Amino acid sequence: MSIPRQHLNLIDGQSRPAASGEVIEVIDPSDGQVFTSIPRGADGDIDAAVNAAHDAFRRVWRNQTATDRGRILSRLAASILAHQDELSELECRDTGKPMAQARVDIAACARYFEFYGGAADKLHGETIPYTAGSTVMAIRVPHGVTGHIIPWNYPAQIFGRSVGASLAAGNCCVVKPAEDACLTPLRVAALALECGLPPGVLNVVCGLGREAGAALAAHPGIAHISFTGSTETGATVAEAAARRHVPVTLELGGKSPQIVFADADLGQAVPVIVNAIIQSAGQTCTAGSRVLIERSIYAEVLAQIGARFDALRIGPGLSDLDCGPLVNRRQQHKVMGMIESAQADGIRIAGQGKLVAGAPVDGCYVLPTLFADVPAGHAIAQKEIFGPVLSAFAFEGEDEAAELANGTDFGLTAGVWTRDGGRQLRMAHAIEAGQVFINNYGAGGGIELPFGGMKHSGYGREKAFEGLRGFTTIKTIAIKHG
Ligand code: NAI
Ligand code: MG
Repeated sequence: MSIPRQHLNLIDGQSRPAASGEVIEVIDPSDGQVFTSIPRGADGDIDAAVNAAHDAFRRVWRNQTATDRGRILSRLAASILAHQDELSELECRDTGKPMAQARVDIAACARYFEFYGGAADKLHGETIPYTAGSTVMAIRVPHGVTGHIIPWNYPAQIFGRSVGASLAAGNCCVVKPAEDACLTPLRVAALALECGLPPGVLNVVCGLGREAGAALAAHPGIAHISFTGSTETGATVAEAAARRHVPVTLELGGKSPQIVFADADLGQAVPVIVNAIIQSAGQTCTAGSRVLIERSIYAEVLAQIGARFDALRIGPGLSDLDCGPLVNRRQQHKVMGMIESAQADGIRIAGQGKLVAGAPVDGCYVLPTLFADVPAGHAIAQKEIFGPVLSAFAFEGEDEAAELANGTDFGLTAGVWTRDGGRQLRMAHAIEAGQVFINNYGAGGGIELPFGGMKHSGYGREKAFEGLRGFTTIKTIAIKHG
């Protein structure tokens, strides 16, 4: 597939360069080579996009029926699937993820538009009993123009997740994708136009976080912000929004535990546990980056996971191996630095993948690494590494398992592996996390399942009907009719 040498912003239905004319080079992390460029948008471009979105909201989108909005989104879902090969390759080149994983992400992006296309006209308000001779209704109304700050790890999926829900709820959108991964959001937004989405309803402005991202978070025309990314940037965005009293949904990092009890079905658990940290080279907010193993089976499970790590092959995204490179040089250095400091502290490596022969020397590769007997307070046990690094710990009984599981600042997801029904529920209640999976993990994207964090993993919920409701606010209408 030939990829255009230059990509443009999408504002008011038109492809435009940044007002400054500046561009950012796009590097394929599989080989370190520049293959296209994106515009370096800034405040003027964001301003134009927000104005276009307001205009579209007033003129067309808020007058569309929910059914018509849903139909456009359903058409977009079909179009994304029809373009799955092209979109998967864009995602693979932009992020480095193996083709098979990119294909899953594109299918999930389509599924978001399918889900929210179907949900658009099923979003109901309430009527409320009140005084005699009155009727009260609480109706759901869109916020207006919503801002979407998207990370680079799942650009297509997270675009679908927040834009799909926001458009279905009747908002118009301004999207600022991550500077490391803008290509699928731009392409899907162009497909949306072809599917009949009116110009200006969905705008995409590429640029740096501290420029275009900060301008979007602070723009007075934005009525709601959904942010996915680091805990630090999440706080910066929430501060900017707080000054304007604008609601924010924050989906931040995680340090999610996989808890394996002695009665677990290991044949089922082990492959899922390995996949949960290898997927997208560990650059997943829900990465299962800690495995907690009951002491009586610790050595056995560690050996099984270690053998799988030893067999992992890493290489270019297009080669479609087990694991691709990290997204950029900065992330590669950050993750390698954490691996090296753990080794320097004497933490034992119990399994490590291998770089495939002939992998480009300038690729941003990091070997998937399993660390054993990790002290609970060590940085690799506490910090979000955002790379293919799994830390193993031993525990004794449910109380210690819950204590270890809850012993970080994060609370996004958790996996529990046990055949004991009572224990399944006790653990599910004891764990501080937005999602707990029992004898499975990740559930294939789980578009139908409310998703979001506790503690430093953020607040607000996305996915499912809960995510759709988040893109609305309630207006109460009280009528006295006697
Ligand atoms: P980041 O949080 O800075 O970037 C996420 C998005 O925020 C990007 O679109 C970026 O352009 C934008 N952004 C950056 N600064 C901004 C600002 N001042 N105002 C508004 N928007 C801004 O994350 P970064 O630096 O790319 O990655 C660093 C770490 O963040 C990773 O190592 C990982 O731990 C975490 N992360 C977590 C993600 C998740 O899914 N929870 C996704 C991406 C990163
Ligand atoms: Mg990229």
